[in-house]
Amino acid sequence: MVILVTGGAGYIGSHTCLELLRAGHQVIVVDNLCNSSREAVNRVEKLAGKSIIFYQADVTDEAALAAIFAQHTNIDGIIHFAGLKAVGESVVKPQQYYYNNIVGTLVLSKMMAQFGIKNIVFSSSATVYGENEIPFVETMSLGVPTNPYGQTKLMSEQILKDMAVAHQEWSVVLLRYFNPVGAHESGQIGEAPQGIPNNLMPFISQVAAGRLEKLNIFGNDYPTPDGTCIRDYIHVCDLAEGHVRALEKLADKSGVHVYNLGTGQGTSVMQLLTAFERVNQLHVPYTIAPRRAGDIAAFYADASKAERELGWRAVRDIEAMCRDTWRWQTMNSHGYD
Ligand code: NAD
Ligand code: UD1
Repeated sequence: MVILVTGGAGYIGSHTCLELLRAGHQVIVVDNLCNSSREAVNRVEKLAGKSIIFYQADVTDEAALAAIFAQHTNIDGIIHFAGLKAVGESVVKPQQYYYNNIVGTLVLSKMMAQFGIKNIVFSSSATVYGENEIPFVETMSLGVPTNPYGQTKLMSEQILKDMAVAHQEWSVVLLRYFNPVGAHESGQIGEAPQGIPNNLMPFISQVAAGRLEKLNIFGNDYPTPDGTCIRDYIHVCDLAEGHVRALEKLADKSGVHVYNLGTGQGTSVMQLLTAFERVNQLHVPYTIAPRRAGDIAAFYADASKAERELGWRAVRDIEAMCRDTWRWQTMNSHGYD
């Protein structure tokens, strides 16, 4: 298939492009590089031994997108990763988040209708469940996201669901990611956050590398066995494989298809930290800090639907996630720069 990947230079996008190429698909990337580097795409091409058609363009730019779709009349489907994703920043810059993430989804929907493209896979997030019973199951009523970023995921899901009603031949796949971590085992591509990382794994990794002094563990008084929050960490390569599987299985099945992409296993902040130290044989200094506003004590996926219907499940464990993160960190101490 010929797949247009928005945000394909980013963390999850780059790993998915590699998986798509390896599975024999052709890839066209559209990315404005606002949170990524062209070098990631170069490295994916080298790893796969195949080329990618790359456009530096903004998905909110309708004219630019129309020109790309007019140029490539053979596109079979879209994977839509492009978006802003920092929760804290979204609270400070809501207009930017709503504009970028919602208009991007609307422009792509318009392109699909205009150019007769029937398949889209959208990057959603476990954040749409809000505070809910665990494990999170696809059939649950969705929660109320507590920040603009989460709202943009919920709204984009709704927009795509409504589009699927209006265009009954469309296949809309909503993939709800849990906590993606790790890097490709080559150490060539990985997560390259700009500035101080917001998320746990890149923070641990930068403390281990001596770029940050110590990890702040946000709260150890949660109602969990060790008092720290529990999440469902999933290796980014498993996640990438999940996208390819979803695309291949669902491209000719019209309607809306929702899947959790997680492992189904909960790991606490303290467990992740000690696993990272043990696997990589190093010490990561930490301190217990106050709780972070908006954090939920514990959530993880019910990952059985993806296994049952797509024949996909995450196969890489916490050790692999820690080892691959550290390999990427040591081989690329300043990301792609
Ligand atoms: P990322 O920032 O590494 O990748 C996003 C990419 O989109 C970047 O390359 C960025 O330059 C590009 N982009 C952003 N706005 C754009 C625009 N208007 N036009 C063109 N390109 C644009 O983030 P990621 O971690 O790879 O996340 C990919 C997607 O998955 C995002 O939609 C994110 O919200 C979603 N998601 C991520 C996580 C996570 O923890 N990483 C969890 C759940 C969902
Ligand atoms: C993040 C996103 C969320 C998204 C989810 C799944 C934030 C705030 N939320 O959630 O929208 O749906 O990923 O991908 O980014 N922690 C520390 N110290 C740190 C960093 C984190 O103790 O320096 C703790 C947090 O309190 C949390 C856990 O580590 O308990 C994981 O945090 P993080 O990696 O930011 O992910 P989430 O908050 O789960």
